[in-house]
Amino acid sequence: MNTNKLDINDIDLRGRRILLRCDFNVPQDGGGAITDDSRIAAALPTIRNLLARGNSVICCSHLGRPKGRADPKYSLAPVASRLSELLGQSVALASDVAGESARKLAAELKPGGVMLLENLRFEPGEEQNDPEFARKLASLADFFVSDAFGTVHRAHASTVGVTAFLPSAAGLLVGRELRIIGGAVTEPERPLVVILGGKKVSDKLGVIRNLLSLADALIIGGAMQYTFEKARGGRVGASLCEDDKLGYALEMLALAEQSGVKLLLPEDTLAARDIDSEPVVCASDDVPDGYGGFDIGPRAVARFTEELKTAKTVIWNGPMGVFEVGKFAGGTLAVAETLANLDATTIIGGGDSAAAVLKFGLTDKMTHVSTGGGATLEFLEGISLPGIDALPDKE
Ligand code: 3PG
Repeated sequence: MNTNKLDINDIDLRGRRILLRCDFNVPQDGGGAITDDSRIAAALPTIRNLLARGNSVICCSHLGRPKGRADPKYSLAPVASRLSELLGQSVALASDVAGESARKLAAELKPGGVMLLENLRFEPGEEQNDPEFARKLASLADFFVSDAFGTVHRAHASTVGVTAFLPSAAGLLVGRELRIIGGAVTEPERPLVVILGGKKVSDKLGVIRNLLSLADALIIGGAMQYTFEKARGGRVGASLCEDDKLGYALEMLALAEQSGVKLLLPEDTLAARDIDSEPVVCASDDVPDGYGGFDIGPRAVARFTEELKTAKTVIWNGPMGVFEVGKFAGGTLAVAETLANLDATTIIGGGDSAAAVLKFGLTDKMTHVSTGGGATLEFLEGISLPGIDALPDKE
């Protein structure tokens, strides 16, 4: 995939009405209040850059998965108010996506003005990448900027379709994500150490395989480790384990050996009868019956820390344990603190690891915290991202 894409600083964009695809798919609590506005904050540099050059900006995004129907639960109203707070100017919200309200607000938008369309996924044409819907969306503006890095793995009307109808370029966030993550996988300063965690091996099949051809060391934590332990003949008790992925795990262990990549699995585990019970430390390949592993143990923390201290580039995706629960947060916290103090390029691959780093107040200590979850994983997997492929290359 060519990641050397035309961006807004390559062109003399002035006095245009710009359709800006953002990823404002932010987490909300039960009452709809935004619990993490990082993705909104990450869009500000592009919006400010465009406004400073006398453009007007029509932001658009999806939120959740309303499946092609307008549903007030998924309205972008909370995003419009947070965006206007962060931007320091009012952001009008259209009551539809590309209908009468959107057209009227867009026509009235003055240079320096910002508006937001309603949730793109209220329209069935969005996820179907319907050319008719893409054309309607494009007709609101005269230029398209793609800055929704978290959604570039989706071939939707607002990420791909619209580029057939408008001249297009990447925004600053997409540019930064491609440069930093792309640089770390194509020409990293070595050693490159990758840490993978989270629940399932099946979420990271392609990523593990691809990273084994790139990394110097691969650290595996989180519940994923138990699939590897069981594949090697260990006892994993009641820990989460994907029995249909044991063969894959064995294949990856063999591949690591052939490629000379160090594959580190945790030596010990914090196991408990359930998440509310007191944990005990046990060997990761000898978890007692009736106990499940919820975090990596102290010897694993020491070994992983030692390896990380040798790294010049680190990519981290997926927590080491159930970091949301204090007694099982230690492994994830130790990794986050080690990275925060490293003299190395440290990249947090979005999703739960980004949430963990934010929770520990260490976001600013990392080189880059990606706004992508699934998109970052697909990028690390080395596969093409439709929302990037659709953009013009740099001259
Ligand atoms: C994300 O949160 O990963 C992106 O916004 C994409 O959302 P989706 O998985 O619903 O397409």
